[in-house]
Amino acid sequence: MTKKTSGFDLVLAERNDGTPKSRWLSEALREEIARGRLAAGTRLPATREMAAEYALSRGTVVNAFEQLKAEGYLEGSAGSGTFVSRTLPEELLEVRRPRSLKGQSAGRPPRSALLRLSSYGRRVELFRNFEIRPSRAFRANLPALELFPAALWAKVAAHRLRRVSMSLLLGCEPMGYRPLREAVAGYLGASRGVRCEPGQVAIVSGVQEALELVARLLLNPGDEACMESPGYPGAVSAFRAAGARVMPLSWKGGKLREAGLKGARLVYVTPGHQFPLGTAMSLAERLQLLDWSARSGAAILEDDYDSEFRYRGRPVPALQGLDRRGQVIYTGSFNKVLFPSLRLGYLVMPPELVERVEAAISIGNRHAPLLEQAVLADFVVEGHFGRHLRRMRQVYAERLGVLQESVAARLGGVLEITGIDAGLQTAAWLGRGLEGESAAAAAAKRGVEVTPLSRYCFRGTVREGLHLGFAAFEPKEIRAGVRELGVALEGLLRQ
Ligand SMILES: Cc1ncc(COP(=O)(O)O)c(C=O)c1O
Repeated sequence: MTKKTSGFDLVLAERNDGTPKSRWLSEALREEIARGRLAAGTRLPATREMAAEYALSRGTVVNAFEQLKAEGYLEGSAGSGTFVSRTLPEELLEVRRPRSLKGQSAGRPPRSALLRLSSYGRRVELFRNFEIRPSRAFRANLPALELFPAALWAKVAAHRLRRVSMSLLLGCEPMGYRPLREAVAGYLGASRGVRCEPGQVAIVSGVQEALELVARLLLNPGDEACMESPGYPGAVSAFRAAGARVMPLSWKGGKLREAGLKGARLVYVTPGHQFPLGTAMSLAERLQLLDWSARSGAAILEDDYDSEFRYRGRPVPALQGLDRRGQVIYTGSFNKVLFPSLRLGYLVMPPELVERVEAAISIGNRHAPLLEQAVLADFVVEGHFGRHLRRMRQVYAERLGVLQESVAARLGGVLEITGIDAGLQTAAWLGRGLEGESAAAAAAKRGVEVTPLSRYCFRGTVREGLHLGFAAFEPKEIRAGVRELGVALEGLLRQ
């Protein structure tokens, strides 16, 4: 185990005049260890340094250290340094528990009169981030990280850092770094048909932050937010945290069921690539939605999370580009196109919302990290972003082909993939009476990760099926994953 150095100045409690110096020092250090501020394995400053710092004699410090060694709090010897013990005395663990926790059962949060939660505080729920676990086939929403041009990114970043200006170290306006906002407006106009000025673009940490911001700005507790079921659970969480009631948006025979939208204040859609089913919203459907929103006064939030990757047919322009009344708020992300930990995306809004979004960001994270924004702006403006996209589109199309072929060859009749044109993942339908939950559980036992489509339903049901990511996996991993999935599903069919 590597050894840690305390690395900071130890601020010890004041000494009462009457307390002998050595006892004061040992008590103060014991307290720091008990509270966990000096963690196990941390190296303490040398006795000479500590003596000078606290105007003590070296002998006093040596005595205090010896006392704590005898009690088991410290270990080490002259020459090798003094460390907080790795195995701390049993009774110390008791001391470490804050007084308010004593007598309460472990794991239950302390009840404190000072910590009475707001209604928001009680509502907000953890939205799990699957990206931080090691990836395996067929995790959805992941790009091919092994193909990210890290050396090129490092070169662009190093170039930017070498000529970093004072203003870049100071900060930027809440809406983001102007050259990046300009680059985003240009890119969205050319490739997604989005109509906006750079002033309407806010740089955020990703679609998730955009959803949360819009929910806070447009929804009051009790309002209705409508979206398709199955739909993106991150949106459900953001709307519910704002206190909204999440209601289903549905279509019948290509017609919008307006009756279900009567009370809606906000409608959330993924028209480019419905999450999780993967269908694109037709032009006729888009026009109906816009028409309804103009009549009802409800806003539309368009999440264009992965339409960059279209493998067949012409790209479908964004709904925002068809909007003539300023009802559509548009959001997208660099996190899926480049790499998930980048945490940069954009929110494009009608002009009337700009000031409100700016205010909300200014009291939240103040602005997205500026150096990352500047590096990304260079990456886009220098043409690397466009090249990366084109390359990935080819790679993902090939991976999708491998998935479709292997599923057809190995799992015909048991699992079926139909008509996927875009994105990093696809829906696949289960046959022969198989159910998504049991299929996912059996697959997990064989090291394959799939999500039942039913898990994305906040209302009603969906045909039994699975959500499979393919973009992040090399052809041989895809083939092996399909083989294992096949064994898992056949096992279920035999039961
Ligand atoms: C439909 C959809 N919207 C939004 C997001 C979140 O995007 P970001 O990482 O930019 O917050 C995801 C991520 O998985 C998604 O699938």
